[in-house]
Amino acid sequence: MSEPTPETLQMLSRCGQQPLLQILDQLPAAEADQLLQILLDADLEMLVQAWRNADAEPVTAPKSNRAETASAPANVVWQPQSEQDHQRWIQATAAGEEELSAGNVAVITVAGGQGTRLGFDQPKGMFPIGPHSGRTLFQIFAEQIQARRQRYAAPIPWLIMTSSATHSATVEFFQQQAFFGLDQRTVHFFQQGSLPALDARTGQVLFARPGVPALSPDGHGGLLRALKRSGLQQQMSEQGIRHLYYHQVDNPTAIVADPALIGFHNTHKSQLTTLVVSKTSPEERMGALVEIDGRTEIIEYSELTPQQAARKDSTGQWVFWAGNTAVHVFCPEFLQQLTNGDRNLPLHVARKMVPCVDLQGQPVPAADSAVPNAVKLERFIFDALPAAERTLIVEGCRERQFNPVKNATGSDSADTCREALNRIAGEWLRRAGLQLRSEAAVEVSPLQALDAEQLSMRVAEGELQLSDFLMD
Ligand code: UD1
Repeated sequence: MSEPTPETLQMLSRCGQQPLLQILDQLPAAEADQLLQILLDADLEMLVQAWRNADAEPVTAPKSNRAETASAPANVVWQPQSEQDHQRWIQATAAGEEELSAGNVAVITVAGGQGTRLGFDQPKGMFPIGPHSGRTLFQIFAEQIQARRQRYAAPIPWLIMTSSATHSATVEFFQQQAFFGLDQRTVHFFQQGSLPALDARTGQVLFARPGVPALSPDGHGGLLRALKRSGLQQQMSEQGIRHLYYHQVDNPTAIVADPALIGFHNTHKSQLTTLVVSKTSPEERMGALVEIDGRTEIIEYSELTPQQAARKDSTGQWVFWAGNTAVHVFCPEFLQQLTNGDRNLPLHVARKMVPCVDLQGQPVPAADSAVPNAVKLERFIFDALPAAERTLIVEGCRERQFNPVKNATGSDSADTCREALNRIAGEWLRRAGLQLRSEAAVEVSPLQALDAEQLSMRVAEGELQLSDFLMD
């Protein structure tokens, strides 16, 4: 093997990774080089530091006093109540439509997660969610993008972030589906990175096979590095993209490339805009937008104790009411500043069970099957918020815009999401004057209409009728 440099050896020893040296000695040169490369690229020292910091705190302790000093966000663009508000939203929508028509908008879908909670063993975007058609999440987004491209006669590039866990299956699926009719040159897959898992007790790198570390996706914060490395950051800049609409793969009712949100973002010259909805209860598993020392931040649900999550301010309002829908608009220059600077997004530590082997390749049984043996490290894209000089928070309509598929059963499940899609379709059809039984099974494809107004217009013009939507 090519000898590790003295600096590398010192680093490994500072990180308490002595057993690794033995592994490196035993591996064929090429594999040893590859292993070192992975560890250096991941900045092992920083990972071990994150493990040490997390280890210093009991699992149940609040992570810091951020939760105590946080206040509810002060400046929010609320859903329209008055006529004046309505005018403001109409103007924002028109401003966003201008940006779309000018070809200034691209869409980023983050689809690198492993979707363990849903119990679906394929990439989540392949999950069939159309209540009657069985359209997948990816198809619904593809149709929304197709319809917006047609409406604004604009290219709207689609950037899909995958991970080693989801990449090949996602790309194959798009190929099988002929890219849902989209020009494949306008759909760009790019892969986020991976980080090695560490032994929860010792902080040592865990191995999936001898010499091969147990890796997992580096969190959606991996977007920054992945955009740059893939060359897409540069490509989007050359294409004149001024706004990156970002959303998660799990919410089919996200209004992809939402003109109102883009309009508000543009007029406020925001660097990072976030769509929020009121949490239904303090314990709902949503991150919350807050203000800390005059900066906007998100505190993740997992960082709050139940008492903290339920804290009210002097007006009697929950401090953590503003649920993060994970829909954002980014200014590309702001992302570029983050990737060019030496500022790294912080690492978050999650304790998980990770299968691993010893030096001889024998599976290492967990010391206690109830206690996770490993820590996985992830970066969250929304940790970019405090670095922004200008942020904006816009309140969305929860019933219309936030119906994610997260769990196999219960809240935020496929059932609740399908009900929402059926309900929204029913509301649009009734607004268009169509007579519908209350329990009618209906579904609207984004290619038929992107919103209630378009649907009403197409029905009024005789282009669509009730039978086009009935699925019974
Ligand atoms: C997430 C947000 C939470 C927000 C909620 C809204 C985080 C940490 N929290 O919670 O603040 O209120 O959504 O629905 O994100 N992903 C990747 N790569 C990864 C990990 C995740 O692309 O390495 C993608 C997933 O594919 C998914 C999204 O990020 O699209 C969310 O991931 P998930 O872990 O399910 O987040 P939640 O806990 O639901």
